Amino acid sequence: MVTARAEPGAGAIDGRVERLLGQMTLAEKIGQLTLVHVEPGELPGDLRAAVRAGKAGAVLDVVDVATVNELQRIAAHDSRLGIPLLVGRDVIHGFKTVLPIPLGQAAAWNPDLVQQGARMAALEAAASGVNWTFAPMIDIARDPRWGRIAESFGEDSHLAAVLGAAAIRGFQGDGLSRPGAIAACAKHFVGYGASEGGRDYGYVGIPEVDLRNVHMPPFRAAADAGVATFMAAFSDVNGVPASANPFLLRTVLRGEWKFPGFVVSDWDSIVDMVVHGLVANDEEAALAALSAGVDMEMVSTTYRDHLPGLLAAKRIDPRLLDNAVRNVLRVKLQLGLFERTATDPAAYPGVASAANLALARELATQSLVLLQNRNGVLPLAPQRLHSLAVIGPLADDAYEQLGTWAPDGDPALSRTPLQAIRETVGARVTVRHVRAMATTRTVTTAGFTEAVAAASGADASVLFLGEESILSGESHSRASIDLPGNQLDLVRAVKRAGKPVIVVILAGRPLTIEPILAHADAVLYAWHPGVMAGPAIADILFGVESPSGKLPVTFPRVVGQVPLYYAHRSTGKPASQASFLHIDDIAARTPQAGLKNASQYLDAGYAPLYEFGYGLSYTSFTYADIAVAPTRARVGVPISVRAVVRNVGQVAGDEVAQLYVRDLVGSVTRPVRELKGFQRIHLEPGESREVAFQLSADDLAFYGRDLTRAVEPGSFHVWIGGSSSADLRADFELTAD
Ligand code: GLC
Repeated sequence: MVTARAEPGAGAIDGRVERLLGQMTLAEKIGQLTLVHVEPGELPGDLRAAVRAGKAGAVLDVVDVATVNELQRIAAHDSRLGIPLLVGRDVIHGFKTVLPIPLGQAAAWNPDLVQQGARMAALEAAASGVNWTFAPMIDIARDPRWGRIAESFGEDSHLAAVLGAAAIRGFQGDGLSRPGAIAACAKHFVGYGASEGGRDYGYVGIPEVDLRNVHMPPFRAAADAGVATFMAAFSDVNGVPASANPFLLRTVLRGEWKFPGFVVSDWDSIVDMVVHGLVANDEEAALAALSAGVDMEMVSTTYRDHLPGLLAAKRIDPRLLDNAVRNVLRVKLQLGLFERTATDPAAYPGVASAANLALARELATQSLVLLQNRNGVLPLAPQRLHSLAVIGPLADDAYEQLGTWAPDGDPALSRTPLQAIRETVGARVTVRHVRAMATTRTVTTAGFTEAVAAASGADASVLFLGEESILSGESHSRASIDLPGNQLDLVRAVKRAGKPVIVVILAGRPLTIEPILAHADAVLYAWHPGVMAGPAIADILFGVESPSGKLPVTFPRVVGQVPLYYAHRSTGKPASQASFLHIDDIAARTPQAGLKNASQYLDAGYAPLYEFGYGLSYTSFTYADIAVAPTRARVGVPISVRAVVRNVGQVAGDEVAQLYVRDLVGSVTRPVRELKGFQRIHLEPGESREVAFQLSADDLAFYGRDLTRAVEPGSFHVWIGGSSSADLRADFELTAD
């Protein structure tokens, strides 16, 4: 059941909603469903008039507190009913103190830090008058070509559900009515991450059973966490765009989940339905959207332009309009906006405080994933270094490290990797910086000579490569996910200098980096780590911290393998090492039936480069003594699973112990593994600890062939380990009685 937190005084609020609604004119009602975009820096003169007339209930992208206060004053004191404005902003991963992109945050597998980061962002944004954020984005993203994978928490339903709920708790705080709480928005409902071909805004064809078992769980968790608003996706979902999809917005969201908040369209997603070819014109788009359950229209104006005519023609039930207005007014009352119209920035902790930057640094540090560390080349020991070459287009770029969707970020706050390396090693080590490439897309080698010379004269080289922030994010999909430009050639050239080479990659998606592995001694994946990228990366490079990040998304060997994700179905002919013969090893005239039939590629096999949940540390962990109790039980009886994790290395480290389950037989086929729990633990060298998990019936339930959610009796495998390839396994059985 949705346990949406009933805000204090819900009864009183509903009474106030009814009293307001009863006084509202049609124009004022439609005004509450109208979200107006304001270009930064200019306030359209007619906006003041519209607010005064009650014809605009919300604004988007106004972040100057004086302007917000002016508009709120007009709304509260000059308009007839004094209904305050919602002030929305994309506070996606920080406001002024920019945190790692959400995909990087997910790599930390730390819900508490994600919650703290959202809380910090909410306070920074609220000080500017923002009271609504269009976050968290909890689309399940299994296609790294898709630019918005950067904004997601990755490929897994459980991880996205846990982190999305944490972000909502952070944004909304201890209650929407508290100062500093901002309304969160679960977006984009639903299935956007499955856009065909990884092309943004692409068609989404997903059977309902997979919508329910894979893409909806994070949104259900958001509703259960009390998220105040939902955003309908741009996507054409199985032929019915989400902004006019009554199955999604009424049957599931309202009927099954009892969601009490309001639904906002995405930017122009209502008028886009004419372009989709769902409706013939804007009037039909307005009818379809309001009928399906979109309460508020973002930017386009079909509600304002056409609802009066639709109502006059009795083509739409006026109760639908009233209910949409009720949903919006309820959130405004829950936010306490009627009692708190003016924002006093001095009432807030201030932006980019030392504490905020420290939090950004901690989250960035935990987001870094060590992918390769040959011969323990990392951590670097400054005391054993005389000189270090720092090379590449992303070593010292205060803007690019912020990543996509950082509209309020300030590069002046950034501490870059070059700066942090210099600060860490001080005068003891000569640090020579060579950009070598103007951008990551540079295809000339003009800068290589200087880079190679620096590498030759240094004890080691650290290359900062990857993608600029513009190469990921909305509508920035890539058909190739190789390192752009001739970055690979740069790695090769620097390696020819014969010294250790460490590659740090800043990117908004998994990249197909296999070609650099032969030339890099170590590879650290940094995503776009935000303002504190430098100190976080330096702390890992020099061993101040041990890397603990784990991949929230699968890394393919080649883009042709996509979609490639761990929680896949078996298929009837699963691939295995035994079945795989590389294309170069196939003898001429091999008979058509001469190769084993399996679900794989002749030229790329079936395995990823790095699996979901993978990440190295400076120490090593072992898993042993897995135990399940009871091993046989009636459906509904909780199953406990435990194992002992030991730090068998020489240094302390954090490990993310992960629990995976396989339901061997189902009325619909089940994934070969599914993440059902994880725990982040700290172990000193030689220390061991038992990790214990509890599998409830809800953890094992899924939508079966009849599309009802239940636990089906049968046999289960369960694993505990440090990634989705964990092999420490136990079994249990569930019986019907
Ligand atoms: C964009 C995005 C959405 C964002 C909204 C407001 O097009 O799809 O995620 O919140 O418009 O900026």
